[in-house]
Amino acid sequence: MKILITGGAGFIGSYIVEYFKDKAAVIVLDNFRSGFKHNLEDFRCEFMQGSILDRELVRRAMRGVDYVFHLAALVSVAESMQKPFECAETNTIGTLVVLEESGPRESEEAGLEQFCRHLWLQRCNAQSGNDAA
Ligand SMILES: NC(=O)c1ccc[n+]([C@@H]2O[C@H](COP(=O)([O-])OP(=O)(O)OC[C@H]3O[C@@H](n4cnc5c(N)ncnc54)[C@H](O)[C@@H]3O)[C@@H](O)[C@H]2O)c1
Repeated sequence: MKILITGGAGFIGSYIVEYFKDKAAVIVLDNFRSGFKHNLEDFRCEFMQGSILDRELVRRAMRGVDYVFHLAALVSVAESMQKPFECAETNTIGTLVVLEESGPRESEEAGLEQFCRHLWLQRCNAQSGNDAA
């Protein structure tokens, strides 16, 4: 199994990287906006540095991937007030790029379903305090 974790160098994302240690091949896509290299130093993963707004990079990161965990975001409420456009761009356009690129070309619906299911599970698990996977 191969998984992609966007925002994998961040707080939540790095716990997902840790969870999949020895369970899956892990690719992390992160631009270090608020994440840290040291969050990943104990784990084996393929790292791609860059933004989810870079469609070509996201497309490359998606190659051969079975599941996507999308954690790349601008999360600070205070910062979102100071930089509303950057926040909207990252959190909405960036999510759309990940969403669009997560579907197999020949079957957009399957990819969309897979992405939404995991987004939903992630949210439920975060709320109930369970393990992310
Ligand atoms: N921290 C919590 O308690 C919590 C709880 C529930 C949900 N969430 C959600 O989980 C997600 C991640 O939150 P977090 O606390 O780990 O935040 P975080 O800031 O630690 O992680 C976000 C990661 O996304 C990366 N990033 C930001 N913009 C990017 C871009 N354009 N391209 C690629 N990478 C980019 C950052 O560098 C960082 O590593 C958010 O959607 C947040 O709302 C967090």
